[in-house]
Amino acid sequence: MLDQLEALGGKALNEVQAATSLDSLEQVRISVLGKKGGLSEVLKGLGSVPATERPKIGAVANEWKRKIEEAMALKKASLEGAALDQEIRSQRIDITLPSRFSHRGALHPITTTTRKIAEVFGRLGFDVMTGPEAETDFLNFEAVNIPKDHPARDMQDTFFLGPGVVLRTHTSAVQMRALRSREWPVRILCPGAVYRCDQDATHSPMFHQVEGLWVDRHVKMSDLKGVLEFFARELFGAETRIRLRPSYFPFVEPGAEVDVSCFQCGTSPKHECRVCKGTGWLEILGAGMVHPKLFEVAGYDPREVTGFAFGMGVERIAMLLHRIPDLRLMFQGDVRFLGQF
Ligand code: DAH
Repeated sequence: MLDQLEALGGKALNEVQAATSLDSLEQVRISVLGKKGGLSEVLKGLGSVPATERPKIGAVANEWKRKIEEAMALKKASLEGAALDQEIRSQRIDITLPSRFSHRGALHPITTTTRKIAEVFGRLGFDVMTGPEAETDFLNFEAVNIPKDHPARDMQDTFFLGPGVVLRTHTSAVQMRALRSREWPVRILCPGAVYRCDQDATHSPMFHQVEGLWVDRHVKMSDLKGVLEFFARELFGAETRIRLRPSYFPFVEPGAEVDVSCFQCGTSPKHECRVCKGTGWLEILGAGMVHPKLFEVAGYDPREVTGFAFGMGVERIAMLLHRIPDLRLMFQGDVRFLGQF
């Protein structure tokens, strides 16, 4: 039996050494030390051994068991270490590799243009004020002197949301909010989205405007002209001139359309100029002196204060500044277009 134990132990130690994985090591443990393993099998024969011999055999068996367990523990530790090494090696990150190209975002030209406009007027003391896009019929139309059945309502095809509520057709709707919520002097700039039921190459159902309003004692038409001239030069260059053409807007009297000299042609308009189409001028906004009716609605005394207002389309300004040929490019979200800004 001692020979048997010797053979079993030697073989087991070899198998432990030869194990290449934790699994195969466990197989060795079961086959040698398990309940039905080789050691138990050998010890079954203990009954036929003289009683005096038994303790010795038992001691030898225990000694083998201890040796095998010790060898297994060592092997297990080394296999686990190797497995960990392998795992670390497979997950190793080479920090010297160049990184993957990442997309860099940019602000939309409508955003940058709005910010630029607000920055220029900010230097003249205009605060930014915003209003809701879903607006009452009253503030969008009635309060700015466009009563029901007034033909001027046809100038702006309206989206109606419900009784008395519209998607604002212009940022002029914020004017009355400003006048009603503030004491004069009022000097505000209202940027935001506006909506009209209209869509083709030059019209979008949603676009952006910036409204300006300055109400104070002794505000004159010449102040309007000076402010707009400053604005035009800051935006389009120091050489820029402006001109006012009489026009009609219900909320101002007198009203004007304002043109800037073509920054492409300079002082001499060129026939072939694609920016101004040979006219030398570019229309950029509407403006005028605040109609006394608006002061009455707001509870101001029109004999005490005067004011001017103006409104411009942000897309139009952005298209002029960046020579963007088609309005629709602004809303398609094509990164090839947006990536240029
Ligand atoms: N609200 C006008 C529009 O949407 C633009 C405008 C014109 C605003 C004249 C004004 C103004 O404040 O005085 O077409």
